[in-house]
Amino acid sequence: MDMNDQKYLVFALCKGRLAFKTLELLEKIGITCEEMKDKDTRKLVFVNEELKCKFFLAKGPDIPTYVESGAADIGVCGSDIIQEENRRVYEVLDLGFGKCRMCVCGPERARELLSHRERIRVATKYPAIAKDYFFNVKNQTVDIIKLNGSVELGPIVGLSDVIVDIVETGSTLKENGLMVLEEVCPLSARVIVNQVSMKMQNERICAIIEKLKKEIQ
Ligand code: PRP
Repeated sequence: MDMNDQKYLVFALCKGRLAFKTLELLEKIGITCEEMKDKDTRKLVFVNEELKCKFFLAKGPDIPTYVESGAADIGVCGSDIIQEENRRVYEVLDLGFGKCRMCVCGPERARELLSHRERIRVATKYPAIAKDYFFNVKNQTVDIIKLNGSVELGPIVGLSDVIVDIVETGSTLKENGLMVLEEVCPLSARVIVNQVSMKMQNERICAIIEKLKKEIQ
């Protein structure tokens, strides 16, 4: 028997919004993990002995870190995180869910600052994406302020002029008197694979990717 048959295939999944949808999709292609469905569990790593698969849930921005290092063979997270982290991993599949947009948002008055290419203050959880957008795409010099969440506060309390953030339904913006001013890029959930795993466990990983492709078509 091939040694690789003995190895666990390790999945790193994103805690939160994407987790449920990802598990649902994996279940459809026969990759199940009963233990993981228990919402009250504090357990971090789950095993399916029959399938020789392990699963763990991690914070979104850490998924590419686990996959690049080989601690996980396969990861699922948003394309926002993949762009922001810029890790050496293979991005193999767009799952087509978790769709949202990366946008520049702010109050109406910020529109003018944007169009005049003023040196504005941009608050964001995504400094790399924001930097790339303003400096390379728009050729506009800005000051980037890194925040860790509730970014909408930036323009409201006067920390920044605009924000670069994810917009899904738009209700967070609306409830806080802000609006989309520019669209940076569309986003969705992606599958990433460790570069060594892709070589060493090629058949096994490709079979999973093919099944996923069929399922989401
Ligand atoms: C995200 C994002 C927006 C909100 C957008 O935040 O940063 O705040 O969701 O969704 P909506 O357009 O449907 O309102 P998240 O809930 O992940 O929390 P955080 O900002 O505290 O990280």
